[in-house]
Amino acid sequence: MISRLKGTDDILPPESARWRRLLRAFDDLAARYGYDLALMPVLESTELFARGVGAATEVVEKQMYTFIDQGGRSVTLRPEFTAGMVRAYLESGGAGFMKLSAAGPQFRYEQPQKGRRRQFYQVDLEYLGDPEARADIEIIEMSCRLLAELGVPGVTLHINSIGDAADRSVYRELLRDFLHGVAGELSLDSRRRIDDNPLRILDSKADAAVVAAAPVPLDHLGAEATAHFAAVRFGLDALGVTYEIAPRLVRGLDYYNRTVFELFSSAFAAAQSSLGGGGRYDPLGELIGSRRPIPAVGVALGCERIVAAMPETREPRLDLFVAMAGDARTAEAAAWVRRLRDAGLRVDWEGGGRSLKAQFKAADRSGARGVAIVGDEWDAGEVRVKDLATGEEAALDIEEVGEWLHR
Ligand code: HAM
Repeated sequence: MISRLKGTDDILPPESARWRRLLRAFDDLAARYGYDLALMPVLESTELFARGVGAATEVVEKQMYTFIDQGGRSVTLRPEFTAGMVRAYLESGGAGFMKLSAAGPQFRYEQPQKGRRRQFYQVDLEYLGDPEARADIEIIEMSCRLLAELGVPGVTLHINSIGDAADRSVYRELLRDFLHGVAGELSLDSRRRIDDNPLRILDSKADAAVVAAAPVPLDHLGAEATAHFAAVRFGLDALGVTYEIAPRLVRGLDYYNRTVFELFSSAFAAAQSSLGGGGRYDPLGELIGSRRPIPAVGVALGCERIVAAMPETREPRLDLFVAMAGDARTAEAAAWVRRLRDAGLRVDWEGGGRSLKAQFKAADRSGARGVAIVGDEWDAGEVRVKDLATGEEAALDIEEVGEWLHR
């Protein structure tokens, strides 16, 4: 027996029904806001992430699935969508606005636990080409809306601004000075980061008490980043999106500037992990070779975590299960099943060949709302129907079954 790799999952029914609900809601939301579908390579050149996500990040330093392919190139299983989306935008000409949605597996070599997998799924939105706060607002509002439409309870949104590159180089020196002053009290991991990635120490859980007194980026924004952040907050307020300002939120990837945000749910509190996060990443285009800046903002939400936080629904899996009393009318029944499906109903059947009792068991297991029995009444244009929730039975004209299901 060969078993699946640690940190990977087989997502099968009944669990996968929740995934279908999530993926459909996401796709529907993206379409309503004018985001087109992007299908992205799972394999990219290692350099894309080393330069785009940042060589000093945890993801690139420790978590990538990198190998040399048959042609001697270093390739990596994508740990996230964003760098690949910007690469694709640039390769496709890189002009104007492009709003993209994507869903699919990502790979990070993590210590597996609930909601922290080595192969995990993200739904992702990227708004490329727009420097204005409206893009940040739209991405944040959509992220909240997705969780609301899925019924995820107790959602909180944390937002922050980490300013522009020039603001950050001034701020980084201030922070370094502060951190060197308290280095003796920092965890080993954080101490090692003071010089190469000091911002990450700000949201280190192990060092929360020590960094509570550190200067924060918000107090050191330039005029433009300040105005941009004010516009983002104003827009969110106008839409009734509630948020908390989280001055120590910096995110784990290096490409961000200005707006950063994360979403949490009371129903997924494991290790204080976020359901999703994102932000503005104007520097990313140039990091991966664009000759001009590509203003952009986006978000990714973790599907495993959303699914864990989604409420159970008693939504039936099928509308109707068609059972056959005998095999005499199989061809007519097949045509009827086809018509019901044409009409958009979710219908399953076995096509006869088994006892009615066995078919009723299958109907119960199928999660259908009702069962229709094709028997002698068929010749008079009728079927017997049974509501599997209430047990109510009736004889119905076959043309009325759809209505009966929608009653
Ligand atoms: P991220 O914060 O690295 O951002 O990941 C986004 C979400 O993916 C997390 O909030 C979490 O829900 C989920 N996630 C991350 N790692 C794991 C894991 N090992 N197991 C399960 N879920 C996980 C990004 O990936 C950015 N590309 C987001 C972005 C898009 N920024 C701009 N555009």
